[in-house]
Amino acid sequence: MILVSGGAGYIGSHTVQYERGRGENLIILDNLGLGHREAADGVPLVVGDTRDRALLDRVFEENQVDAVVHFAAFAAVGESVERPDLYYNNNVAGTLTLLDAMIAHNVKRFVFSSTCATYGNPQYVPMDEDHPQNPINPYGESKRMVEQILQWYDRAFGLKFVALRYFNAAGCDPDGRIGESHNPERHLIPIVLQVAKGEREAITVYGDDYPTPDGTCIRDYIHVLDLASAHSLALKRLRGGGSSAFYNLGTGVGYSVRQAIEICRKVTGRPIREIIGPRRSGDPPELVAKAELAEKELGWQPQYSDLERIVQTAWNWERNRRY
Ligand SMILES: NC(=O)c1ccc[n+]([C@@H]2O[C@H](COP(=O)([O-])OP(=O)(O)OC[C@H]3O[C@@H](n4cnc5c(N)ncnc54)[C@H](O)[C@@H]3O)[C@@H](O)[C@H]2O)c1
Repeated sequence: MILVSGGAGYIGSHTVQYERGRGENLIILDNLGLGHREAADGVPLVVGDTRDRALLDRVFEENQVDAVVHFAAFAAVGESVERPDLYYNNNVAGTLTLLDAMIAHNVKRFVFSSTCATYGNPQYVPMDEDHPQNPINPYGESKRMVEQILQWYDRAFGLKFVALRYFNAAGCDPDGRIGESHNPERHLIPIVLQVAKGEREAITVYGDDYPTPDGTCIRDYIHVLDLASAHSLALKRLRGGGSSAFYNLGTGVGYSVRQAIEICRKVTGRPIREIIGPRRSGDPPELVAKAELAEKELGWQPQYSDLERIVQTAWNWERNRRY
């Protein structure tokens, strides 16, 4: 059985449903602070916190867990700068509590949601896994700290892990049963689609004077189902006795904010008003992954990550949201 922390959140819920479709037995641990009960969609949900050691002990005692997939964290870069305390507490202390409970119950397979934010400002693009890691905000640093902790836990306790460094997660379940629902929403594509839907006036583009072809930031969008399949392959690696590893998850193709908005116009057939705002601090001009290692070592092949397809699935969700 797989324990999925944060499995009622955006990426976690898609991974849970993907694994369930493959016949896996799963249990979700989510405090529902940012997640949605509906997103569990029939999979057993324990409402609780990764920092609650007594609860974790109970969950491990009562279930035959052989691996943990750990999504539970805070993930808003700007907020992490204002409230680093929240980020170190949830993302680092919460993960440590979970890891210690795992070791105590002899569960030694761990898949971790890491991020391209562990790299900081790019020194070159596309960025491979050897790119220097100099995070520029507490969010990225909290994830980097966990990556370091994992390496020492492997050495000391034999914990085997795969840390997946996602670039920009986007898109939703094509069937529309689950989707992306954050409050407040901070991700570009759902915000743009909410403009298309008439729920927002306009999309603010943060800066059009970057050194990129159209002056707006370039990002690498990866479909949430392609992230889900990577988790599945990471688990397969660990269950097959594979060693610990770090992988980037992206497509290697970057789109500017302007290009992404244009694709949203095309897919929705609706006008989308954009306003140019000032740059946001901490936004690198270009973040694009080199993800060949995951393809080579995990056999990962993104299938849904063409940006038009991503927007179509997100638009389908946005128009028929269940939560
Ligand atoms: N969304 C992205 O583009 C992106 C990119 C890189 C990395 N990540 C990482 O992926 C993971 C999932 O991101 P998401 O976008 O699905 O976020 P999300 O907020 O939708 O999901 C996180 C879930 O974890 C739960 N949670 C948070 N802290 C908890 C705790 N202490 N105990 C129990 N449950 C807790 C929340 O209620 C929520 O359901 C995060 O670790 C994030 O840092 C996301």
